[in-house]
Formats: sequence, C-alpha cells, structure tokens
Amino acid sequence: MKAPLFLSASPMGATARGHTLAIEALENLRRHHPSLKVTARDLSQGGFGQITADYAEAILSHADHADPAFTASEILIRELEETDALVIATPMHNYTVPVALKLWIDLVLRAGRSFGFRDGRKVGLLADRPTLILVSSGGLVRGVAASQPDHLSGYLTDVLKTIGICDLSFVFLEALARSDRAEQAIAQGRQEIAADERFGSGPTAEVALLDKVVLPICCRT
Ligand SMILES: Cc1cc2nc3c(=O)[nH]c(=O)nc-3n(C[C@H](O)[C@H](O)[C@H](O)COP(=O)(O)O)c2cc1C
Repeated sequence: MKAPLFLSASPMGATARGHTLAIEALENLRRHHPSLKVTARDLSQGGFGQITADYAEAILSHADHADPAFTASEILIRELEETDALVIATPMHNYTVPVALKLWIDLVLRAGRSFGFRDGRKVGLLADRPTLILVSSGGLVRGVAASQPDHLSGYLTDVLKTIGICDLSFVFLEALARSDRAEQAIAQGRQEIAADERFGSGPTAEVALLDKVVLPICCRT
C-alpha cells in the first residue's frame, strides 16, 4: 500500500467522527510506510455539481471518454487508477449513503470505463485494493438492537464490486447521536481499525493514535 485515496462524505467535514478516525488510520499507516502518498477528496464540498442531461446523454450514447460531459467522471476514475488503497468515511443518511457519495458513485460507475460486461454480467475494470469504510450513524443499524434498516453497507459493497473493488473492511460507528453511547462507539471503532491487518498496526496502534501528527495530504475538492 503506497498511495491511498481518502474520500470524506460527511457534511461535517473534518469534524465528523468518521473523518477523524479515517485520518488517524492514515496517520498510523504513514508511521509504518513513511513514503505513503495520500490523496484526500472532500466530497461534501460539492465541487462536481450534479448529474446533468449532458452526462446522462453521453452515458446513454456511449460517448467517447474524451467527451467534455465526462470531465468530472474522468477526474474521479483516474484518481482511483492512480491510487492503490481506498478509505471512505461516510455517514448514513436515511438508511443509505449521503448525496455527496451518491454523486461520486454516479460519476465513477461508467459502462465501458470502470466496468464492462462478460456473459451478460457487469465486471469491474479497476484494480482491486484494500478498502476501509467507516460508516457513522446516529442510531443502531446492526444486530437485534438495530432501530432501522441498513441500505448503505450492502449497497456500497455492490457498487464497489461493480468496478472491481472487493477487498472491503467495514467499521461501524453506531449510535453517535446518543451521548451515552458515542464515546464507546468511537473507542470500539479505533480498536477495530487497529486490529485490521491492512489498516491497523497491531497492539501499538491505540497508543500511536493518541499521538497526533499532521498528515501531509493532497486535498482536492
Ligand atoms: C440528512 C440526515 C439523515 C440521517 N439519517 C440517518 C439515518 O437514517 N440513520 C441514522 O442512524 N442516522 C442518521 N443520521 C445521523 C447521521 O448518520 C450522523 O449525524 C452521523 O453519522 C454522525 O457521524 P459523523 O460525526 O461521522 O458525521 C442522519 C443525519 C442527517 C443529517
């Protein structure tokens, strides 16, 4: 792992708990891989507007990759092609991904570019890579105590698999809206990241996480 791409999808930006844990995980990785080059994109900044009629027409007409309607899509797909790991910090919004991450999905999943077809089924055209997905939610989404459906983790798994990214580790930060549960959820999330064989760094990780460093990252919005 040399060049992770970090996608931050919370409207709360750098103050989001998921974002903070993702940065901590990247800082830890950097301790073990000093030459790590992180590309960070804050999807919530809305730099890509929305899906336009031009884009929809270009998709439907299988327009050339150089078509101007594909400019944003090309930027985001190339960003994936230039990186070898993926970290996504996303909140759950109404049981699924927030609109900022949905826009990224709609721009990145392109037939003939990021996925193709074999025997009538979609197959990914991008390289698989270790992927850490931090899912923050105000309530509980898993297990018997879940208060709501989870249309985020299965959906995101299917979406990433479509483009060839299958090596996924999910970490859930649940019940963040509950003051009696939030701290525990964050501590548990840290432990899960530390225990992850790719993104964690074993038993020393918890100590390392407390010692913050400024991570030189290339921020794109
Ligand atoms: C528009 C909106 C919709 C939300 N929908 C849900 C939801 O369906 N389920 C849930 O548990 N929390 C929901 N929340 C709460 C967010 O998931 C929560 O604020 C967020 O995960 C906090 O994590 P962060 O600090 O990492 O941003 C919603 C929040 C917003 C703003």
